[in-house]
Amino acid sequence: MNPLFLNALRGTNQGRPPVWFMRQAGRYMPEYRALRAKYSFMEMCHEPEIAARVTRLPIQAFGFDAAILFSDILVIAEALGMQVRFEEKIGPIFDHPLSTEADSDALTIRDVPSTLGYVAEAIKFVKPQLAVPLIGFCGAPFTVASYMIEGKSSHDLKKTKQWMYRNPESMHRLLDKIATASIDYLKMQIAAGVDAIQIFDSWANALAPQQFQAFSFTYFQKILKELAPLRVPIILFCRGTAAFIPQLVELAPAGISMDWTCDLSQMRRQVPRSIALQGNMDPFLLYSSTAVIRKEVQQILDVMKGDPAYIFNLGHGVFPDVPVDAVKTVVETIRDFVP
Ligand code: CP3
Repeated sequence: MNPLFLNALRGTNQGRPPVWFMRQAGRYMPEYRALRAKYSFMEMCHEPEIAARVTRLPIQAFGFDAAILFSDILVIAEALGMQVRFEEKIGPIFDHPLSTEADSDALTIRDVPSTLGYVAEAIKFVKPQLAVPLIGFCGAPFTVASYMIEGKSSHDLKKTKQWMYRNPESMHRLLDKIATASIDYLKMQIAAGVDAIQIFDSWANALAPQQFQAFSFTYFQKILKELAPLRVPIILFCRGTAAFIPQLVELAPAGISMDWTCDLSQMRRQVPRSIALQGNMDPFLLYSSTAVIRKEVQQILDVMKGDPAYIFNLGHGVFPDVPVDAVKTVVETIRDFVP
């Protein structure tokens, strides 16, 4: 198996940095769009053969050094009895979002293998077909809760923020349920064969520092503590990373994934090499010319040169309309790099 990604997570990579992209299996790929024209997003997640094929697409097309399972952070809602659907050009939709404290208190945690067993099936199906490590994932409880409350993508999380100030205790009860279900979910993914885990807190940047401590840190800590005995490396991704570095370092995950608003060498001064750094190319760069992309990628590689615990990634997910050639240029530049 290609060792670069797991070596970097252990802090022992002597070669060029490994590279993978958040949302690498998605709509910017024509092969994905062709499949998506035939099936709904959830049908693709539910069918192990299709989920496996989509997981492999970007590895075959670009030669990424790690695969991430094709699924979504919001399927965990099914383990709490909520249904999500994905509408083309709109995104995730909960037809019955949580609007009152009574709604969230009524949620019960279901048996994860019976509600989300299809995710384990997809992992078992794809794992033997891969020559690179497989990343499993879930959303951070705060980010998942925000979608369950807003009901769809929101630019400001107004309802969620109002709820936190109105009734912090009930928000904690909700987050605790999501964290408990997420622990079962990640344990199931690990038992099925994933090599690493990434936890996505995509909306952490909406939180004031003390809110991050109370509503996000607490549940990261709970999840990490429960999973520690399984010894699978865990990467934490937050939007707004730079503001939360001291807390993220305190959690001592295997890796921290940085958004594009910070300087990697500056971050490295605050993050010990026992924690891998992942990131943080601006995803908007993928709209630029080949020459500009090469120069920017080279700059990141030079800054992180010799760091045995560095993983190249974007600062956030790849956009659905970027040219495939731009992605090729990034990966080729990294593959050509002599460490
Ligand atoms: O390639 C991969 O990264 C693996 C699969 C994956 C998806 N979503 C597939 C997907 C992963 C790891 C995610 C994570 C995810 N999902 C996050 C965290 C990362 C981030 O981007 O902040 C969040 C917040 C979600 C929730 C979600 N799912 C949104 C907001 C949307 C709509 C916006 C968009 O980009 O379309 C989705 C849909 C989704 N998840 C698609 C894919 C490939 C597009 C679905 C389609 O084909 O219509």
